[in-house]
Amino acid sequence: MCEISKTPKVATGDRAILPEGAKTIPIYVMGKQYQVPETLTIMKAMEFAGFRFLRGAGCRGGICGACPTVFRMAGDYKLHFGLACQTVVEADMYLAQIPFFPANRATYNFAEMGQAADAIHALYPELFRCVACNLCTKACPMDVDVLGYVSALKQGNIEKAARISFDCIQCGLCASRCMGEIPQYHVAQLARRVFARYIQPQAEHLKNRVTDIEAGKFDPMLDELSGMSKEDLEKRYVAREREPDMAEAGSWAPQDTSHL
Ligand code: FES
Repeated sequence: MCEISKTPKVATGDRAILPEGAKTIPIYVMGKQYQVPETLTIMKAMEFAGFRFLRGAGCRGGICGACPTVFRMAGDYKLHFGLACQTVVEADMYLAQIPFFPANRATYNFAEMGQAADAIHALYPELFRCVACNLCTKACPMDVDVLGYVSALKQGNIEKAARISFDCIQCGLCASRCMGEIPQYHVAQLARRVFARYIQPQAEHLKNRVTDIEAGKFDPMLDELSGMSKEDLEKRYVAREREPDMAEAGSWAPQDTSHL
C-alpha cells in the first residue's frame, strides 16, 4: 500500500465545499495526493481537488468518449481503464487522463467506398498486424469486444464488425494498448458508416422525413418557435405532449399530429 500523509490536507476546489462529516479518501493525480469525498466520480473528484477541465470532458454522461482514464491501485501491478465521468473514486487510485491518443485516421472519399471490405483493408492495412492479444478489449470502458470486431473486419465481415462495435464511444483507449498500432476505433467507425450507407436496408420513413424537411414542411413551425419569447417557449415546452417513460413500443402517438 502507498504511504498516506498523516495530516492530509483537504483539497477544496472553487466549485465544491466538503459536506460536514463526509468521508474523504486519498487519490493521486500526476503523482500528487489529494483528499476527495469518496462518493464522487473521478471527474468530480478532480474538480473538487482544484483541477479544471478545459479538454477531456464533454457530455459527463458516458457518451462522448472525451474522458478516458487509466488508473492503477497502490500495491497492484494491474492497469484499469474507465471513464472519468462514470467511474467512482477509490482510495489509493493513481490516475492519468488520456483525453487524446494519437491514432492514424485514414482519409477517404466515402462516395466511392462501396461495401467491399478490400477498401477498408487498403485504408487500414495495419489491421493485419493484430496478434489477437486482446489488450484492446480489456482496455475498453464500454465492454466492447474490440478483438471481436477487428477479427470480423480481417475476415471481411463489415456487418458483424459494425454490430459488435455499436457501443464504441471513440475514446481511443483500445489504440493506446495495441502492440500492432491499430487505430481500432477509427476502423470500426468506418465499418459502421459503410454498413449504414451500403449494406443496411434504407428506412422508408427516414427517406420520407428527409423529403419533408427538404420540401420545407417544418419551416413554418420553426419560424413560429424562433419568433416566440423565452417565457412562451418555456410554457410551450412544459405543456408539450410527451411519450410516457415506460410506454410499450408502438403503443403511443401524440394527439396533435399536425407536425408528423
Ligand atoms: S465526459 Fe463524455 S464520456 Fe465522460
